[in-house]
Amino acid sequence: MQLREAREGDVPAIVALIASGAEAGLLLPRDAQSVRAHLEDFAVTEEDGVVIGCAALTPLKPDVAEIRSLIVREDQRGRGVGRVLVRALLRHASEIGYDEVVAITKGAAGFYAGLGFAETSFDRFPPDVLRECAACPRYSSGRRTGLVRSPAAQASTETRELEWRR
Ligand SMILES: CC(C)(COP(=O)(O)OP(=O)(O)OC[C@H]1O[C@@H](n2cnc3c(N)ncnc32)[C@H](O)[C@@H]1OP(=O)(O)O)[C@@H](O)C(=O)NCCC(=O)NCCS
Repeated sequence: MQLREAREGDVPAIVALIASGAEAGLLLPRDAQSVRAHLEDFAVTEEDGVVIGCAALTPLKPDVAEIRSLIVREDQRGRGVGRVLVRALLRHASEIGYDEVVAITKGAAGFYAGLGFAETSFDRFPPDVLRECAACPRYSSGRRTGLVRSPAAQASTETRELEWRR
């Protein structure tokens, strides 16, 4: 498995991955235009040149960033790909100087807890983020959990694979 920053050629694969998660009601949908416009936020993992996972670090406030659009292809789950992606985003967030990394999840709260995230109130999220979640009927059904973690707590030895340049 390789971890790297996303490139223009990854857009169709990222859009397809996110669409599969959105169909399952686990992610907010994103079209190619949205992915392309925020491509520099994305990290991807690939296997034999094929993108098998993606995640984005979205700035929310000067000191807070959100992990969005985290998904691993279904047949590749459970082998550490999601962990590699989240750790890479945490390291990147730490390098940029964010104090907090947050996420909203349905069904993956245990995954985030295993990576040091704690449950938090939705008050921490800007209203427009919550409105976007609420506006999507598939995503807004079912219990969602807000999560937070300081990126600085990450050991410098964790995940060195991604050399992320803006
Ligand atoms: C959540 C997701 C990204 C995890 O990716 P993954 O590659 O399967 O996860 P990993 O193999 O890196 O798992 C790391 C650890 O978390 C655990 N874990 C994985 N998914 C979990 C879940 N949904 N709930 C609880 N624990 C989970 C694994 O068992 C593993 O534990 P271990 O360290 O004790 O072995 C993946 O299941 C996925 O794409 N889900 C659908 C989309 C989604 O829900 N995205 C999150 C939206 S915020």
